Amino acid sequence: MNEKVLVLDFGGQYNQLIARRVREQKVYAEIKPYNKISCNDINNAGYKGIIFTGGPNSVYDESSPHFDPEILNLGIPILGICYGAQLIAYMAGGKILSAAENSEYGNTLLRVKENALFDNIPEYSDCFMSHTDYVCALPDEYEITATTNKCPVAAFCSKKSGIYGVQFHPEVTHTQYGKAVLHNFLFNVCKCSGDWKMEDFIDRTVQKYKAELKNKKVLLALSGGVDSSVAAALLHKAAGENLTCVFVDHGLLRKGEGDFVENTFKDKFGMNLVRINAEDRFLKKLAGVTEPEHKRKIIGEEFIRVFEDEAKKLGKIDVLAQGTIYTDIIESGKGDSAVIKSHHNVGGLPDIISFESIAEPLSDLFKDEVREVGLKLGLPRELVFRQPFPGPGLAVRIIGEITKEKLRILKEADAIFREEIDGSTEKIDTNQYFAVLTDTYSVGVKGDMRAYGYVAALRAVTTDDFMTAEWTRIPYDVLERASNRINGEIKEITRVVYDITSKPPATVEWE
Ligand code: XMP
Repeated sequence: MNEKVLVLDFGGQYNQLIARRVREQKVYAEIKPYNKISCNDINNAGYKGIIFTGGPNSVYDESSPHFDPEILNLGIPILGICYGAQLIAYMAGGKILSAAENSEYGNTLLRVKENALFDNIPEYSDCFMSHTDYVCALPDEYEITATTNKCPVAAFCSKKSGIYGVQFHPEVTHTQYGKAVLHNFLFNVCKCSGDWKMEDFIDRTVQKYKAELKNKKVLLALSGGVDSSVAAALLHKAAGENLTCVFVDHGLLRKGEGDFVENTFKDKFGMNLVRINAEDRFLKKLAGVTEPEHKRKIIGEEFIRVFEDEAKKLGKIDVLAQGTIYTDIIESGKGDSAVIKSHHNVGGLPDIISFESIAEPLSDLFKDEVREVGLKLGLPRELVFRQPFPGPGLAVRIIGEITKEKLRILKEADAIFREEIDGSTEKIDTNQYFAVLTDTYSVGVKGDMRAYGYVAALRAVTTDDFMTAEWTRIPYDVLERASNRINGEIKEITRVVYDITSKPPATVEWE
């Protein structure tokens, strides 16, 4: 059994991030809402330490989350963050003040005094603040350990027991020594040894689902993307034959991708995978459609219809499994893990299939952690580090009507461009790169003959979050090789252009 730390959730927006930062230090973190665990349970659970999270409330509000003050006497080290720090001070008899003129937001200069929590941290550094309330008076047995210009008690500790509070947020990267603060708490104060690893997450999750999914029929919509693939591989270890993965191949995937997904899961992992080759069905629905939003809508709806037809054939489903990851929950604007991901590929599925429960084994993890799990489960690197691909697939990269022929042409051009980037000896800092087939024709010369064919566009972007993106400065010789090969190998294309528009004003995809 791993040593573990409790993250006591008071409703803050960074709670999962705190747990993730603890995991980064190789310590297992368990998040529990403050009203779902008692002081007695905490005492009996063998936690090495407790972290009180932040929260949007004010401690004097009647409705604000509180906890049994007895927790301060359990002898378990505690670190309170933001609201959590105010709550500790309040429970121990200190005073909190709410004064707009003392509120702080953003990067703030912090001055610390030497103590176990600030070991190896310089006297002055930057921290991230986000508060209006602050501790204005500490109880006798506590002392101030840090200040800022506006905040007289930016950190404190109890003189005799391992109780600490920080008004700033050590879990966000803007806090220069945030990692060190958490490290000091976990290792200097809680005396953790750092015995947790990602394999422990896998074992724990498999054990949990082995019990939960016993004799249950589990259905998962596999898109071939990272998240649903990792969820499938993980749940397969727990449910084995009882897990059926349905892979709707709408024909709008990249060259060879459908076969790659099928080979990986069916042949390599021996999973129960149903691949539905629905290209004709999708192309029929898309015939004559040129308006981008209309295309997207048709694909989304048809996806659900195809999935529904297949699910009906499988009979009663007990559990619907999804590859929801933590950021999906945040992005849908809700901090409740019961929320179902409104991902394009699976959006709407819970409404059309009847099932008893949902399994989301990755819902606490961040993308890089999901990738690590994928690699540990033996998924190919190609899949684990796959670049993002839109649910509507190549349909949003073919301008104008989508036909079988245009799909074939684009798949070839896209494969060539990706090969040239992947095979380049120069390191290219890019996060997504693909080809687009425009509906513009252009005159060219091929083999001394006049040619009249498509203009293809190449697109590559560099970005952290895809909300904004820079067009990637791809070396000219790589662009040249890609252009020569596309023009030479694909007779229907007579011209290649490179898209030099960032986002904004453009979006990453052309449609
Ligand atoms: P845009 O074009 O909106 O793209 O700048 C930002 C990122 O999102 C991807 N994208 C999608 N992903 N379903 C998805 O799962 C979609 O409908 C969709 N549309 C765009 C796009 O590839 C880029 O990475």
